[in-house]
Amino acid sequence: MRPALGDCRIYGKLRFMSRGNPLESTQEFIRRLPKAELHLHIEGTLEPELALHLAHKHGVALPYGSIAELRAAYDFGDLQEFLDIYYALAEVLRDEDDFYQLALGYLQRAHDQGVVHTEVFFDPQTHTARAIPFGAVVEGLNRAFTEAQRRFGMTHRLIACFLRHLSAADAMRTLDEVLEYRSLIAAVGLDSSEVGHPPSKFISVFDRARQEGLLAVAHAGEEGPPVYISEALDLLGVRRIDHGVRCAEDPALMERLAKEQVTLTVCPLSNVKLRVFDRIEHHNLKRLLEAGLRVTVNSDDPAYFGGYILENYLAVQRALGLTRAQLVILARNSIEGSFLDDDTKRRWMAEIDARAQDLTAS
Ligand code: ADE
Ligand code: ZN
Repeated sequence: MRPALGDCRIYGKLRFMSRGNPLESTQEFIRRLPKAELHLHIEGTLEPELALHLAHKHGVALPYGSIAELRAAYDFGDLQEFLDIYYALAEVLRDEDDFYQLALGYLQRAHDQGVVHTEVFFDPQTHTARAIPFGAVVEGLNRAFTEAQRRFGMTHRLIACFLRHLSAADAMRTLDEVLEYRSLIAAVGLDSSEVGHPPSKFISVFDRARQEGLLAVAHAGEEGPPVYISEALDLLGVRRIDHGVRCAEDPALMERLAKEQVTLTVCPLSNVKLRVFDRIEHHNLKRLLEAGLRVTVNSDDPAYFGGYILENYLAVQRALGLTRAQLVILARNSIEGSFLDDDTKRRWMAEIDARAQDLTAS
């Protein structure tokens, strides 16, 4: 049986085995760093193979006949071009078992890459608008999370995102359904087409969600302007900003984010695929990190953007020349910025710090 990477005791053993090995590759170093993923859309883990399998299972006609044709379609000019394909493909997700298979595939991959805790987004409206019951989605996901906890010791939080291109009234109705599954859902989020749909549109929905004890996050400053980041913090009461890379256009905002240690869930490969940056070498992650912001690395929609969390860490490490000490900071930030309790955070921090000590010892 594979070691359960989510188990601190086994990490201790791995650490011992890797101590004093200066030849350990960067890839292996990153893989073995305990880390959390904080920005992951479960619908964005739909690999072409599973999409075609489910299309066949449910008799859904897709405009792509083969895996190669599907992958060839993943050439996006911007966020909207991506979302059009993304929502079309989500058509194949229909029953509880589809969501279970989807999530289990992601959790296995994340575990293989050293993710010990994951906070997963789902878009209820993408499914309920097609008459897929909310319960089928949440129960399928939860069955996979339970299995990953048992098999790998991996922990999770589930985050229900509102689609910002739809109305606040629609989001409010969705919140009613979220509250029916309150025990399985930790937070609400905000995603989809950003420009023209500012956080201020959803103040009443987020007010109510927070009154009900849900935590809040929001996509802001991906394609949208820096003021959307301030709005998300000040009007929606969010605990993290998803993406947030356009904060670099506003020095005062940068200073605020550093001072308040707001977690940014940055997704490097996504940003290049969706042309937020024209190439990975031009990504501002290192600049934000060195300005003292609490930056994390995440995969967003890995089936569409060319890589899961490990590939995202590796891409920025290589392109921006991140040191191992900076990789350790990124992993620490992911635990610190998570919704884990303080005790569990302390345990993972100690594990990460032990890895950092191995660095100086070798
Ligand atoms: N939904 C899935 N991926 C997204 C992204 N990168 N931005 C906004 N909404 C999304
Ligand atoms: Zn996202």
